[in-house]
Amino acid sequence: MSNEAVGSNKASEAGSLWGGRFEGSTAESVARLSRSIQFDWRLAKYDIDGTLAHIKALQSAGYLNLAELKKLEKDLVELAKRVELGSFQAKPSDEDVHSALERGLIEISGGELGGKVRAGRSRNDQIATLIRTYLLDQSDVIQALVEELVDVLAVRAEEHLGVAMPGRTHFQHAQPVLLSHHLLAHAWPLLRDLERFADWRKRASLSPYGAGALAGNTLGIDPNLVAQELGLAGPTQNSIDATSSRDVVAEFGFIATMIGINLSRFAEEIIIWATAEFGYVRLADAFSTGSSIMPQKKNPDVAELARGKAGRMIGDLTGLLSTLKGLPLAYNRDLQEDKEPVFDMVDTLTVLLPAFSGMVATMKFNVERLEALAPAGFSLATDVAEWLVKKKVVFRDAHEITGNLVSYCEKHGLELHEVPDAEMAKISEALTPDVREVLSVAGSIKARSGAGATALPRVLDQLTAIRRLVPKRDA
Ligand code: ARG
Repeated sequence: MSNEAVGSNKASEAGSLWGGRFEGSTAESVARLSRSIQFDWRLAKYDIDGTLAHIKALQSAGYLNLAELKKLEKDLVELAKRVELGSFQAKPSDEDVHSALERGLIEISGGELGGKVRAGRSRNDQIATLIRTYLLDQSDVIQALVEELVDVLAVRAEEHLGVAMPGRTHFQHAQPVLLSHHLLAHAWPLLRDLERFADWRKRASLSPYGAGALAGNTLGIDPNLVAQELGLAGPTQNSIDATSSRDVVAEFGFIATMIGINLSRFAEEIIIWATAEFGYVRLADAFSTGSSIMPQKKNPDVAELARGKAGRMIGDLTGLLSTLKGLPLAYNRDLQEDKEPVFDMVDTLTVLLPAFSGMVATMKFNVERLEALAPAGFSLATDVAEWLVKKKVVFRDAHEITGNLVSYCEKHGLELHEVPDAEMAKISEALTPDVREVLSVAGSIKARSGAGATALPRVLDQLTAIRRLVPKRDA
């Protein structure tokens, strides 16, 4: 062994939950490697809730009498208070949140009573439960922030009903659409993320407590009772699976990352829209930043950070999935690595979403410019082709004829509606002057009136549907 200092990891020593079978102490380097207290301390509240549920089950199985249960309950509430106030804090010598809180409880209840609590549970079933209860709470916070953004998008859509803008494919002008339709196209993916959270809850709301290290416990502790106390739907079905799987964590990570990606897609547009070349939007001062050298600069940093942080979350998720892929049953210490990635995703979204919503709520659309550019790039060509189809021209021919018309316009620097009648007739006799009826942005938008399309009545349908899911907030 190297001559490094040895850590203190005898069972008798505070902050350790094991050590009885060891003669020597753990090497300091191993203690440092092993330690998770620096990040899992945020689970303290959830660990105490788990212990409160567990002691009820211990009492009901006959390992605590009623007086002991009452005393421990009082002491755990006191411990929770000390944790919240910071008067009880984790120490570097505590390996993890479980060790720290056992030390804290023993400080209050004494070793005789406090030492009984660990019976019938393992850190394996404990941590598998805590990560679920923690993520369930965090999903509530994130869902509320996502709903706020959906509300903002709906408000912006309501404010700009009837405003046309260029719709794009391949980032080229394609067909005119309503700005409200475009904005709501960013709301729907977020609504699906909310739906994903609701569905994820069904799988997350089960309690692994009682699974023990992997095979269950011999003390007759009732997993149903613990689940009920924790407000979960019931116990998990298989103790090996319950202690070794983290797909529930990975699924949360996917939903969080997908939210990040959905923000990033919109962010990319906002960054482009805010350029002088596009000039679609102006960001509010409060939601943009300046440059330390270029006095004229107003930068879309919120959107850029959204784009950047999506990459970071993809990294978190990828790391987590990689941790899981080669693990044999049941618990492996690798699983300790599940926490930092999801904690990072939670922190990232909770700091990003409010700023992002603020940016979207306050940016000003240049309505005149959006309207003026809506017909640019021959974006009404499809309308011409479909007008020809209505005149019984085969679509294949209609496409060709319209293509020739566009080509004529490009050569002569004209817009579609500016081509002289005689020239149109030369391209095709089917191209009669009344084609100009469909050569307006308003007409083009109005004609697209099927379910989910860009015509105003359909956009209003979408808004009604969204408002049913996310009611309007009080201003
Ligand atoms: N800190 C550990 C984790 O996060 C807790 C479980 C430890 N279990 C064990 N057998 N060492 O996974």
